[in-house]
Amino acid sequence: MTLETALTRLVGIRHPVVQTGMGWVAGPRLVSATAEAGGLGILASATMTYDELASAVAEVKRRTGNPFGVNLRADAADAGQRVDLLIREGVKVASFALAPRKEMIAKLADHGIVVIPSIGAARHAEKVASWGAHAVIVQGGEGGGHTGGVATTLLLPSVLDAVDIPVVAAGGFFDGRGLAAALAYGAAGVAMGTRFLLSKESTVPDEVKRSYLRQGLTATVVTRRVDGLPHRVLRTELVERLENSGNLRAIAGAVRNAVRFRQITGLSLAAMVREGLAMKHGNDLTWSQLIMAANTPMLLRAGLVDGRTDAGVLASGQVVGMIDDLPPVAEIVEGTVTEATKIMRGLGVMAG
Ligand SMILES: Cc1cc2nc3c(=O)[nH]c(=O)nc-3n(C[C@H](O)[C@H](O)[C@H](O)COP(=O)(O)O)c2cc1C
Repeated sequence: MTLETALTRLVGIRHPVVQTGMGWVAGPRLVSATAEAGGLGILASATMTYDELASAVAEVKRRTGNPFGVNLRADAADAGQRVDLLIREGVKVASFALAPRKEMIAKLADHGIVVIPSIGAARHAEKVASWGAHAVIVQGGEGGGHTGGVATTLLLPSVLDAVDIPVVAAGGFFDGRGLAAALAYGAAGVAMGTRFLLSKESTVPDEVKRSYLRQGLTATVVTRRVDGLPHRVLRTELVERLENSGNLRAIAGAVRNAVRFRQITGLSLAAMVREGLAMKHGNDLTWSQLIMAANTPMLLRAGLVDGRTDAGVLASGQVVGMIDDLPPVAEIVEGTVTEATKIMRGLGVMAG
């Protein structure tokens, strides 16, 4: 069963289902599985060095001939080099985690790459549309990772009213009911993070996946204590401690983690400071927020890669409370589309 929308036509995929670029989670295995299933898989590159991204792109291309995307950060010191890599390798889609840059969108679009930034407000959608973005992913407040305060049910129609380009709905989706509802709003598809994190092909350690499966609808919290920006994560003991600790202690821990991140990614101190300054400039962060931001990748890595549920931060959408299985990606994509199609046919019968 296929469902054709403005998104499937734009990207050349079979199903209007996107697996988002989740840091430390969306690697070559998950992305190629999504592409093979007919959805749009997006590689997370913010937590990869340039060389890791280059080999991840090569690996996805070895595993599938279908289109896929890469999630970029416009404020990374080597963002220009990464854009060139996408162009050279013929990557089909570029997505942006935080605010993109006008020149970057133009360059990618000039080379035939479909640009789909993630946005959290109608005015941001208007801005990137005027810069030439081909579509947007709009993430409502129930979504995992960095998130806003407005729920998908209201943010989505506000963005649909604001722009004419295809809008992909994210935040709280996990099945065909959600896809049917998003299409009814006028969206061109859904993008899911937490649902794909909890799949067979996701490389998150099994014990971590099991701890996500145990959570209910109220298990997440939005905290600024991880990196200064509102971040939806599981309410673990560590997060409670961060929430209750004083600023100085939190910053001291953050500095330690920033140094460890530098060691792992091999970023030179100069590159890290350059990246930090670019981020500070782009996001208007205070110095203490900046130090906290450098801390985030390490905390997420400890949880999502090393399996340290005690010492790591586990980003998650509220939707975790609706998920209790770890199906293969193909089942998620096809099941979502099949269920949505049935629902829409049923609605048609009732209306007729
Ligand atoms: C573990 C995790 C890591 C994430 N990392 C990123 C990231 O690096 N870049 C990004 O643009 N969004 C990131 N997000 C947000 C997702 O891409 C997506 O927008 C969100 O998960 C959608 O909400 P849902 O979880 O309800 O499906 C992350 C989300 C999770 C759960």
